[in-house]
Amino acid sequence: MKERVIVMTILVYENLDLLYDDVKDHLIDQIKRHQTFNLGLATGSTSEPLYERLIDAHDTHKVDFSHVSTFNLDEYVGLEASHHASYVYFMQEKLFKHISFKTSHMPSGLGNLVENVNFYNQLLSKNPIDLQILGIGSNGHIAFNEPGTPVDSLTHIVNLTDQTIFDNSRFFESVDHVPAKAITMGLANIMAAKKIILIATGKNKAQAIYKMVKEAQTTNMPASVLTTYENITVYLDQEAASLLD
Ligand code: GLP
Repeated sequence: MKERVIVMTILVYENLDLLYDDVKDHLIDQIKRHQTFNLGLATGSTSEPLYERLIDAHDTHKVDFSHVSTFNLDEYVGLEASHHASYVYFMQEKLFKHISFKTSHMPSGLGNLVENVNFYNQLLSKNPIDLQILGIGSNGHIAFNEPGTPVDSLTHIVNLTDQTIFDNSRFFESVDHVPAKAITMGLANIMAAKKIILIATGKNKAQAIYKMVKEAQTTNMPASVLTTYENITVYLDQEAASLLD
């Protein structure tokens, strides 16, 4: 079998605070270097400690975000913005009500989905992302690009897998309340970013990280596409890295 050349940088941390401080410093450094900056954002528990640090940097006047536009990865189909588990609600609560960015964009899972998909793809093609923050699903999804998603995919509507519905049910009253579909940036949209930061913490991510790094690139492991992308830094805690050498 042909040996795969992994070009990604992987950093493993014993201390979670240090991990998030380093991501925050890296991100703020990038924001300060640019006069306009397009920042790709992720939802989920993994992003929360980073957003807390950005709010702190904002509140203590260490960084100005008024030249930063944000672009979120994904959203459930059919959840109103007022629903506590919608991603628009999450972003509002965890970041947007604390920091005023130049503009903030999220794909919409309400109304005409074909129009929403086209709108988001056009928006992304006009506004290349300078830095994309990513988490990873326990099944290796990035954004909501589930196993089987083609590498050249753009923003699309996806049927969520049972694994993702189960993983994300912790944010809903029960597993039956989790939407079956979502709108997500595609893998090609994500790979078009100039830089990527992927964060994974906890035992629940160890298997996905192992497969991403150690196994052959395959659409069954969507995150494995990132191993061929040069400008990515992967930040892991020891649990998420526990299956690596
Ligand atoms: C969710 C989101 C992803 C996120 C991932 C991990 O389903 N769609 O964008 O990165 O799965 O979520 P968490 O950080 O909560 O583990």
